[in-house]
Amino acid sequence: MNTLTEQEILAYLVGADDKELFGRAEATKQEVFGNEVYLRAIIEFSNICDKKCHYCGLRAPNSTISRYRMDVQAIRDTAAAAADAGAGTIVLQSGDDFGYSTQVIGELVRDIKERHDVAVTLSLGDRGLDEYEFWRDCGADRCLLKLETTNPRLYKRIRGGEDFSARLHRVQGIRDMGYEIGSGVIVDQPDSDMITTLRDILFLTQLDLDMIAIGPFIPHPHTPLGNARPGSITLSHRVTALLRILNPHANIPSTSALGTESPKERQRALTRGCNVLMPSMTPEEHRRDYNIYPGKNEAISASKHSLDSAKDMIRSLGLTPSSSKGPSKKSPHVHESSTQNTVGPCAHRETERELVAAD
Ligand code: 5AD
Ligand code: SF4
Repeated sequence: MNTLTEQEILAYLVGADDKELFGRAEATKQEVFGNEVYLRAIIEFSNICDKKCHYCGLRAPNSTISRYRMDVQAIRDTAAAAADAGAGTIVLQSGDDFGYSTQVIGELVRDIKERHDVAVTLSLGDRGLDEYEFWRDCGADRCLLKLETTNPRLYKRIRGGEDFSARLHRVQGIRDMGYEIGSGVIVDQPDSDMITTLRDILFLTQLDLDMIAIGPFIPHPHTPLGNARPGSITLSHRVTALLRILNPHANIPSTSALGTESPKERQRALTRGCNVLMPSMTPEEHRRDYNIYPGKNEAISASKHSLDSAKDMIRSLGLTPSSSKGPSKKSPHVHESSTQNTVGPCAHRETERELVAAD
């Protein structure tokens, strides 16, 4: 049974029976995904950001980090290395950096899709729906846009005065374009409590997402929340497990935020319902500067390919690293066409879609 009452969720959240909760989450995952763990290679291609999120080290006012912006050729080369190493998905991630035009990102997506048999995920923040539409036409398959919290008042505070409904509208608009959509929240952040967390779980479940990313709050010293208490790793595991039970077909990654205190936590999550790992393939000279929170990307070995390390880790747990594109299992028909690799020029795809819509 994959339904839970609010009382059951709350009981699990406060630790009524972790063994049962994690067992149920893992059994649900096994039923849908078996032993396979999907790999997503993340390329963090720019740490420049326009925004002032209170929790994040990349926020524009943080002058203590050294900013970088990879050029398109370097991003292409990194994507090629990731595809050659067996990644089925390339995630292009950056801060809210408007230094890359709509066209440049579109060409990049088209180039990667033409050269490699991979799915492309965009994690670029609050770009316009018209831009996302264009990138979809260029072949992008998925988007990741986290709500961070589903409490509108808290959202406004932590996102520097921004509007929750605009973010939600963007998430829904992107989904309606036919993208696979991923979202998520930061667990146990300042001013949240069990009810906030319960509501996050219910809200995310109602959104019926293809991918759900959850991680604990980690204070970054050079942000307004630098002195706040770190979020509970245990609570983050519980939230992830509950979301797995409630969303059996969604892809749920074991996030790097979970693993900052100890890499063991990231491994544990893969035995508690998570089915995705997202190793950073960002070139070594930039990895440390993608400092969203302390510890991010620090566990990556310089000598070994991060994708290979991820595969070793997965095998050590008795699980199977998969080079599949790893679509969510929600609606196969949409995903089959959305992950195909034979995309033509952007304009051509536009026409195709208009014809379909006119039908
Ligand atoms: N603690 C935990 N997660 C964070 N993120 C950013 N800053 C923090 C933090 N201090 C997460 C957000 C964002 C993603 C890139 O990293 O969810 O969407
Ligand atoms: Fe920028 Fe995203 Fe960090 Fe906010 S969370 S400051 S938008 S990188």
